[in-house]
Amino acid sequence: MDDSTSNLIQYCIDHSSPQGEILYNLERETYLKTLAPQMLSGPLQGALLMMLSKMIRPKRILEVGTFTGYSAICLAQGLPNGGELHTIEVNEEIQYISRKYFSLAGLTEQIHSYLGDAADVIPKIEGTFDLVFIDAGKKDYGNHFDLIIDRLNSGGYLLVDNVLWSQKVIADQLDQGARTVDQFNKKIRDDERVENVVLPIRDGLTIIRKK
Ligand SMILES: C[S@@+](CC[C@H](N)C(=O)[O-])C[C@H]1O[C@@H](n2cnc3c(N)ncnc32)[C@H](O)[C@@H]1O
Repeated sequence: MDDSTSNLIQYCIDHSSPQGEILYNLERETYLKTLAPQMLSGPLQGALLMMLSKMIRPKRILEVGTFTGYSAICLAQGLPNGGELHTIEVNEEIQYISRKYFSLAGLTEQIHSYLGDAADVIPKIEGTFDLVFIDAGKKDYGNHFDLIIDRLNSGGYLLVDNVLWSQKVIADQLDQGARTVDQFNKKIRDDERVENVVLPIRDGLTIIRKK
């Protein structure tokens, strides 16, 4: 990212509602204790997830890729009373951080955490969803979408992160990762069950609405 883009992003962060102490501490602890802290959504995308969730007011949310829990806490802010968020993570080693911050955020009742591969866990979670956030392994995006789309209510939303793959999707020669993400983007655009918009925020976020 060049200097002017990173200055612009910082300006956007500085002029958006602050993330608050819990998310600030979670971000800090993630940077201190994990190997790939940049995976965390962070203040700008987190604020967008929070805003979208508050607009949608989803009764049931599904998240694929908990990591340390930053996005789950943001998304949970839009839950109405009695609403629930189900979040799946394959890496057991970082679960102590998400659990700690779900508790500090007062969300232990609303957030249900699952440990395991999303492909195995998704079919075991009952019910349908109003909002889904897919943010796990990019090579699995297509499969996760296929597993979820029939469980998404009509008029429900699905958000997918990293759909620009560090801008490599517009390179002259696509590497393996970029090809996979590009194929996923084309699959979504061409799926008549949904409509979508690709936003160049952070690493690219697609907002998909089920018709
Ligand atoms: C980009 S991080 C998620 C970041 C988080 N949503 C946030 O915004 O703070 C992706 C996470 O997905 C997890 N993951 C990768 N493949 C997975 C799979 N097949 N099933 C469940 N979790 C997976 C990784 O271990 C990693 O913690």
